[in-house]
Amino acid sequence: MRRAIYPGSFDPITNGHLDIIERGSKLFDEIVVAVLDNPDKNPMFSVSERIEMLGDVLPQINSDDCRISVDYFQGLLVEYAIKKEANAIVRGIRAISDYEYELQMALMNRRLEPRLETVFLMSAEDYSYVSSRLVKQIFTLGGEVNGLVPDSVKTKMRAKLDNGNRVKFLESI
Ligand code: PNS
Repeated sequence: MRRAIYPGSFDPITNGHLDIIERGSKLFDEIVVAVLDNPDKNPMFSVSERIEMLGDVLPQINSDDCRISVDYFQGLLVEYAIKKEANAIVRGIRAISDYEYELQMALMNRRLEPRLETVFLMSAEDYSYVSSRLVKQIFTLGGEVNGLVPDSVKTKMRAKLDNGNRVKFLESI
């Protein structure tokens, strides 16, 4: 049984994240998409909203025999991964600029927990410039994000802005 954790903020999930999950599903029997519950951050969506959005879009992934589940975690990723009896951590790499930070995290996680491997997957070129941060910024400023996030996520972002959160979001991005 090969179980991987795909950790992240997912604030919100983008089509780039979905692409990585689909690629990972070819390699693992189970992928746990794990949302970091970080009280220091000022997110657009609460952890429960992010989990709900993931639950809405994950069924659209063509995941063959891989089971894909959603969870959240607090504290150290490696402790969470061991508790879940995972063998690996999956991270997506878009461009060489991601690599330095990702390598640092992977090596630190390996030092903390040598039983876990980090597996880097390259996103499709179409998503190599997509990030949750840019999507939030573009959308909050009135730009078009079609094709960058699932439609259901766009609807949820629209609802947030309609509730008068524009200034709050711009300050947090
Ligand atoms: O989507 P993100 O924000 O790039 O994800 C970063 C994440 C959640 C993978 C990273 O911040 C993390 O693992 N946080 C948990 C705390 C931890 O284990 N820190 C040590 C990492 S070396």
